[in-house]
Amino acid sequence: MKRLFIKTYGCQMNVYDSARMADLLAPLGFAAVDAADDADMVILNTCHIREKAAEKVYSELGKLKRLKQKRQAEGGRMIVAVAGCVAQAEGAEIIARQSAVDIVVGPQSYQRLPEMIAKILRGTGHALETEFPAEDKFDSLPAPAAHGVTAFLTVQEGCDKFCTFCVVPYTRGAEFSRPVAQVLAEARALVLGGVREITLLGQNVNAYRGAGPDGPWTLAGLIEALAGIEGLQRLRYVTSHPRDLGDDLVNAHRDIGILMPYLHLPVQAGSDSVLAAMNRGHTAADYLRLVERIRAARPDIALSGDFIVGFPGESDADFQATLDLVKTVGYAQAFSFKYSARPGTPAAAARQVPEAVKEARLAELQALLSAQQQAFNAACQGRTLPVLFESAGRKPGQAVGRSPYLQPVHAENAEALIGRIVAVEIEAVLPNSLKGRLVQTREEALPH
Ligand code: SAH
Ligand code: SF4
Ligand code: F3S
Repeated sequence: MKRLFIKTYGCQMNVYDSARMADLLAPLGFAAVDAADDADMVILNTCHIREKAAEKVYSELGKLKRLKQKRQAEGGRMIVAVAGCVAQAEGAEIIARQSAVDIVVGPQSYQRLPEMIAKILRGTGHALETEFPAEDKFDSLPAPAAHGVTAFLTVQEGCDKFCTFCVVPYTRGAEFSRPVAQVLAEARALVLGGVREITLLGQNVNAYRGAGPDGPWTLAGLIEALAGIEGLQRLRYVTSHPRDLGDDLVNAHRDIGILMPYLHLPVQAGSDSVLAAMNRGHTAADYLRLVERIRAARPDIALSGDFIVGFPGESDADFQATLDLVKTVGYAQAFSFKYSARPGTPAAAARQVPEAVKEARLAELQALLSAQQQAFNAACQGRTLPVLFESAGRKPGQAVGRSPYLQPVHAENAEALIGRIVAVEIEAVLPNSLKGRLVQTREEALPH
């Protein structure tokens, strides 16, 4: 057995890809381990979205170089591969900057890994694949194995929207949707393997237009078909773009019981001039109308978002408009970032907002978002929520799961209930999770 260590950065799509790479390499004798020491192969599955994310990779590579040398001194061998979005964006530059790297492979070329490894083992230098190949990587990768109660399933990749701050259209390529039949087959196999909750993934998942038996299907159509799979109890999807949220998807939140009342709908900013400069393709009022439509269809929906502060040209008044929008919407959860200039994107060339201003704005926004999140969680105290238990907790007998709103919930004496949805009364709201008490241990007759 050879030891494979994969370290994953960035978004859930990378988490999904890392699992697929592990599945791909298993037949070659690679078994996953959880540390790089003594590994025969290390893959860094990288993220290029912000400068910090990309730079982390080089400090990690510095450490790997020392481990690799140590292993060589002991007569062993360690193959170092860089995959993911930094691989796609920087290509051969990575090898020039860090000679310990053997393989650079972009997100659309993972099916090539076995031949790339064979090339390295023959001792013929480096291997580099950063083309967007004509073949579909999903056709060439083995069917994913189910590990646990929840699973990610990538249904869409790439982006055609070209927000002026964002690298994704360059690192992941053009929008592409997997065919309906392929997605359904993968989902059925996951459920047979014990998966109870599937999260559909895409950089713009609601732009999904996969080939169906009767022409292209929307995400809502796909969700409806998936909801028919026996044994599948929960569905989620991420990330959505406000421009692609059609009425059918809004209505799916009203009509499809296993579709969870949680929606990640990034807006980035609340000022129309900033939204226009970002090329988001909608105004703040458009977004607020959308939120109203969703709440009319599913009043208890938990909304989540992404925000960028300090985009070039953002004035104090623009930033105030973001705070106003947040106050109007009321988020259950959110992610917020300082704008990071990314090489090759249009906004990187514009005059930048000073770092101290970005810091102050981020702190103010995060204080507001975190107060909203606490308020959302506090409102759950005393309520009974259906929790899907996913894994054992830290204490004996304890289990951890998720509420419909994606909040982590832990409860005592629940370990035997992993894989099941159980009614849990929320007793306490802690900073990062909810503490619950089982009120019923039978699965029957429960809401989702
Ligand atoms: N497709 C999604 C976002 C994918 S990237 C969408 O359109 O909403 C995830 C998040 O990273 C973005 O929503 C944005 O908030 C943040 N992000 C992307 N590029 C960034 C940059 N250059 N600087 C700071 N944050 C960025
Ligand atoms: Fe990036 Fe915009 Fe595409 Fe989202 S929609 S991935 S932010 S370019
Ligand atoms: Fe990062 Fe690439 Fe995902 S840049 S956020 S890993 S699509």
